[in-house]
Amino acid sequence: MNILVTGGAGFIGSHTVVSLVEAGFNPVIVDDFSNSEPSVLSGLKKIVGREVSCHVLDCNNYPAMRQILRDEKIAGVIHFAAFKAVGESMQEPLAYYRNNLGSLLTLVDAMLAEGISNLIFSSSCTVYGEPDTSPVTEQTPIKPAASVYGNTKQVGEEILRDVSAVKPLKSLSLRYFNPIGAHPSALIGELPRGVPSNLVPFVTQTAAGLRESLTIFGNDYPTPDGTCIRDFIHIMDLAEAHVAALQYALNKSESSFYDTFNLGTGQGNTVLELVKTFEKVSGKPLPYSIGPRREGDVVAVWADVKNRANYSAGKPGVRSRKRLRMPGAGSSVYRLYLRHDEPHRKSRSPGQRGVRPLHYRRRGERGGLCTGCCFAWPESRTYREDRFCC
Ligand SMILES: NC(=O)c1ccc[n+]([C@@H]2O[C@H](COP(=O)([O-])OP(=O)(O)OC[C@H]3O[C@@H](n4cnc5c(N)ncnc54)[C@H](O)[C@@H]3O)[C@@H](O)[C@H]2O)c1
Repeated sequence: MNILVTGGAGFIGSHTVVSLVEAGFNPVIVDDFSNSEPSVLSGLKKIVGREVSCHVLDCNNYPAMRQILRDEKIAGVIHFAAFKAVGESMQEPLAYYRNNLGSLLTLVDAMLAEGISNLIFSSSCTVYGEPDTSPVTEQTPIKPAASVYGNTKQVGEEILRDVSAVKPLKSLSLRYFNPIGAHPSALIGELPRGVPSNLVPFVTQTAAGLRESLTIFGNDYPTPDGTCIRDFIHIMDLAEAHVAALQYALNKSESSFYDTFNLGTGQGNTVLELVKTFEKVSGKPLPYSIGPRREGDVVAVWADVKNRANYSAGKPGVRSRKRLRMPGAGSSVYRLYLRHDEPHRKSRSPGQRGVRPLHYRRRGERGGLCTGCCFAWPESRTYREDRFCC
């Protein structure tokens, strides 16, 4: 079954492509590479063992999108394509509204015109704005968005809810918390263009020596260590949740519906905890400083993943339901990092007993950067000998 993945060369999209192939689907990517590299496709090819079809295209292009939906005989769509930097969205609101809402409107229009009804939408916990309490359930009241980016997700959800009410559209909004990590092969991962706006790629690029120092935005928040609290979820769990959500939509007999899901671990960790965990796991101190608060950041948000236990009983299957509940993500950032290196457990050195490094060298490789650091720093894929490496 062919599934269109818009933004499929990006961080979450590329990992979802892997999970789709593993589940027996045939993903077809549309991406304009505005925030990703074509090299992601060769990483995907190595992981899944075949080419993944990719159309290099802005998904605001209505005629081209219709043509692809028709020619590729698409059965469902996972819509990742969007701009996602909170800070940038406050500086470039028009670009964010145009891209994030324009692409959604174009896509839904094209899907309805081609009679395609199954749509999974990348939403975000930013829709909760600054919640009164955490954890948040899907029923937690939506507050005014703290950023233009957050508002594009709120309005995107409203568009889907309203269209699904009157048109044959089966849509699910997945509200991601904070995806981190990479496929265990490290052939794909989080590789934004330019300076990363997300925490973990900035951490890894700093560790790799590409960035001088990490800035933590504010340590005077009302949290245990003063830094913001987030719910860090492993990217492969998030990817698999998309497959479960897609199967759920495909199996639903109604011709239209709309629903929302939180995709988090149910555990909050502070930004500083994540940084300290990285240092502990990698065994290297990370240069960081405390900067002023960043506009658009909420203080604390993590997911309540308990309330929907009976949601999909019998539909996507036990494993999928578990993935939608996210228990597999582990209960702490530390365990997420351990998971990252699982296939390489045997290669850890005696000094690292019980703690595996975040990154690892390719088998047989000597010196230079490990795959994780190379990943964080594309120009370094020649494995330079003189570079710091965890
Ligand atoms: N990463 C996070 O922390 C996070 C959290 C919550 C929600 N989300 C949402 O998940 C989705 C994917 O996020 P990501 O982290 O993978 O981002 P990403 O930037 O890595 O991936 C997005 C991909 O979409 C592409 N793209 C953007 N606009 C496009 C357009 N008009 N036409 C075609 N391709 C386009 C980019 O080139 C990129 O490859 C986004 O909608 C984002 O808002 C991300």
